[in-house]
This record gives sequence, structure tokens and C-alpha cells, in this order.
Amino acid sequence: MSIRITPYAEANLQAVETLLDAAFGADRHQRTAYKLRIGLTPLPDLSFAAFDGARLVGVLQSWPVALDSDPLVLVGPVAVLPDAQQGGIGRAMMDALMRAAGRQPMVMIGDPEYYGRFFGFTADTTADWELPGPVERRRLLARHAGHLARPGVLHAFAPEHLSA
Ligand SMILES: CC(C)(COP(=O)(O)OP(=O)(O)OC[C@H]1O[C@@H](n2cnc3c(N)ncnc32)[C@H](O)[C@@H]1OP(=O)(O)O)[C@@H](O)C(=O)NCCC(=O)NCCS
Repeated sequence: MSIRITPYAEANLQAVETLLDAAFGADRHQRTAYKLRIGLTPLPDLSFAAFDGARLVGVLQSWPVALDSDPLVLVGPVAVLPDAQQGGIGRAMMDALMRAAGRQPMVMIGDPEYYGRFFGFTADTTADWELPGPVERRRLLARHAGHLARPGVLHAFAPEHLSA
């Protein structure tokens, strides 16, 4: 399998939706992470697709959010087609994100056994963050966010908020 990691813009939107349904189930829109993204579009420089030939096999989307007025990158969904999982595609997309994002603070809802082990995400700083829905605290993970270890409200942060 020869995998190509590309900017997210190269993915067909219908293929993205099909892939996300396959990885997370069609009820995924009820998740708290989706509520954080309402009204936003993926950050083009920090969102990626993975192709095996012409077939879309992986997607990583990132979004602009903030803890009160401090911006963070919300990472996720990170998804690989079930029949292509465990082959390094998730890690390759996350590596592309790490290279592009540098030391920008990031947040995600995911498995610490994966995102902690390979990418240094931790729930240590997020205990007092409020989200627009329920979250399993051990799965609310952040990276380069030590300065944000305080109570705060996490919310969508579209560019228009900057000039408000
Ligand atoms: C989670 C996901 C993105 C990982 O991508 P992937 O390409 O399948 O995994 P990779 O090949 O990059 O990594 C494989 C390694 O990570 C481990 N791993 C994969 N998913 C894991 C998880 N959810 N928790 C813990 N470890 C995990 C594997 O055991 C393997 O470890 P090893 O190298 O010691 O054998 C992908 O499996 C996926 O889309 N899953 C469905 C969505 C999901 O359940 N996501 C949960 C997190 S939000």
C-alpha cells in the first residue's frame, strides 16, 4: 500500500462523509466535538487527507476554537477507513499536522492510549474546561497548552470573532 498525504482540499466532500460514517457511525453528529465546530470550516493548512491511489482512506480535520479568548486548534475527527486501519495512516496524518502546526496549542477528544502515546497529548491541563456537551474527562486532551491549565469555556472561534 503506497499512501499519499495531501491537503484536505484534495478530498471529495461526499467521500469524506462516507469515510467518517464508516469510522465513527452515522450518529456521530451528536458528539460534543461536533457542537464545538458548528459554523466553522476546517483550517486548510492544518487539515489533511490520505489516499491509496485514487481512494480516500483517511481524513484529519482541524478547526479554530478558543478557551475564553485564547485560541487553540481543535483536532478531529481523525479517521481511517476500517479496512485500512493499523497501517500507519493515522500516524502519518498526525505527523503532517505536527509539522504544520509547530507549537500551536491543540485540543482534541480522543483516546489517550493513542494520542498520548504517540503525540504527547494529555488531559492534565483540561480538567476545568467547559464544553458545549458531555465529555469523558480522560479523553479531553491538549498539547502545548500548559499555560491554559485553568477554568475556561471552550467554544468555536471563527475569524469574524477576531474583529468583533
Ligand atoms: C484511531 C485511528 C485514527 C488510528 O489510525 P490507524 O491508521 O488505524 O493507526 P496507526 O497505524 O497510525 O497506529 C497503529 C498503532 O496505534 C494503536 N492504536 C490504534 N488505534 C488506537 C486506539 N484507539 N487506542 C489505542 N491505541 C490505538 C495500534 O494498536 C497500533 O499500535 P502498535 O504500533 O503498537 O501495534 C483509526 O484507527 C480510526 O480512524 N479509528 C476509528 C475512529 C476511532 O475509533 N477513533 C478513536 C479515537 S478519536
